[in-house]
Amino acid sequence: MSVRASAKAARFTESVIREMTRLAHQHGAVNLSQGFPDFAAPEELKVAAQKAVAADVNQYAITWGAKRLREAIARTFTERYGVAVDPEREVTVTCGSTEAMIAALLAILDPGDEVVIFEPFYENYGPDTILSGAVPKLVRLRPPGWTFDPDELRRAFGPKTRAIIVNTPNNPTGRVFREDELRLIAELCHEHDAVAVTDEIYEHILYGGARHIPIAALPGMAERTVTINGMSKTYSVTGWRVGWAIAPPVLSAAVRKVHDFLTVGAAAPLQEAGVTALSLPQAYYDELARAYTRRRERLLGILERAGFRAFPPEGAYYVMADITAFGWDDDVSFVRHLVQEIGVAVVPGSSFFENPADGRHLVRFAFCKKDETLDEAERRLARLRPRR
Ligand SMILES: Cc1ncc(COP(=O)(O)O)c(C=O)c1O
Repeated sequence: MSVRASAKAARFTESVIREMTRLAHQHGAVNLSQGFPDFAAPEELKVAAQKAVAADVNQYAITWGAKRLREAIARTFTERYGVAVDPEREVTVTCGSTEAMIAALLAILDPGDEVVIFEPFYENYGPDTILSGAVPKLVRLRPPGWTFDPDELRRAFGPKTRAIIVNTPNNPTGRVFREDELRLIAELCHEHDAVAVTDEIYEHILYGGARHIPIAALPGMAERTVTINGMSKTYSVTGWRVGWAIAPPVLSAAVRKVHDFLTVGAAAPLQEAGVTALSLPQAYYDELARAYTRRRERLLGILERAGFRAFPPEGAYYVMADITAFGWDDDVSFVRHLVQEIGVAVVPGSSFFENPADGRHLVRFAFCKKDETLDEAERRLARLRPRR
């Protein structure tokens, strides 16, 4: 007899994105692959976390989240978007938005249920769907604007549809969904009695006047939406693992049960620091968007000079770029060349598609990086030449 892994676990691979970070370390490459900032987190957050540890906030918080943090999450969402949220019954604090997503899907989906997903997609959604036993129905976002065909979306919904995953601002494309697109998604959710599970982790990282609209703010949608967010990107603390889900009481009750048995709870002292984070003034968010706008311009310039065809993002901190001009057969060999010979790590486009061939001409660059990191990437990318 020999031991074996589950059929579920055999159906997906390790994360390509996290693998690229390991390769970057191995080859001493500039890491523009994984989406974590290489600059400092805000000082007041670090101090708040240190104080919480010193004050002995070191035991389990309430499983669905420290009361003060849930109140801050509910208050902020209501103030920004006019959606009433009951912190006692509608907010669950999780270990990052990663846990919020898998807990929400496990709470909503039964084996055989269908879930609509836009493609290219953030790679976690694939395994999340498999672990939930659900069947993904993919709808293509097409460059250069990464828009979708409304009829294709309509066709993706059917009698077995239980949910749609919406990620806006979007990783990897940088797309920010417009109100008319969100209204169509809302209409289809109503028609098919489906839930919108929306990942809004890049909510504050917007360019050129793009406006973030939470689908929960559309008429009748708060009752059928799980809004997922977290501290990672807005406050540059991806290692803290504090996220949350806002959902109507019936869905929150299920998310809370799943979350309790997955992780019990997110780090208690960091939840305290989360209260400080959510109390930062508007000036913090304005400066965050300004700083990312500068980094976006910088990376777009670097990519243009290096010979890429880049698709400028409307939000989030990634740029998808076409590599056709360099003459490689596929994205994975190109990325390997880039990390080993040029010294820059990026993510192969194929990891965002169900059929890898659909992303073989694309790579994704992350620009949540210091000026020095982008300067070094520029020096190295200048050595890149088309293959003969
Ligand atoms: C769209 C999206 N959702 C979720 C996450 C993970 O967020 P967290 O650190 O809150 O788990 C990422 C990280 O890159 C992301 O891009």
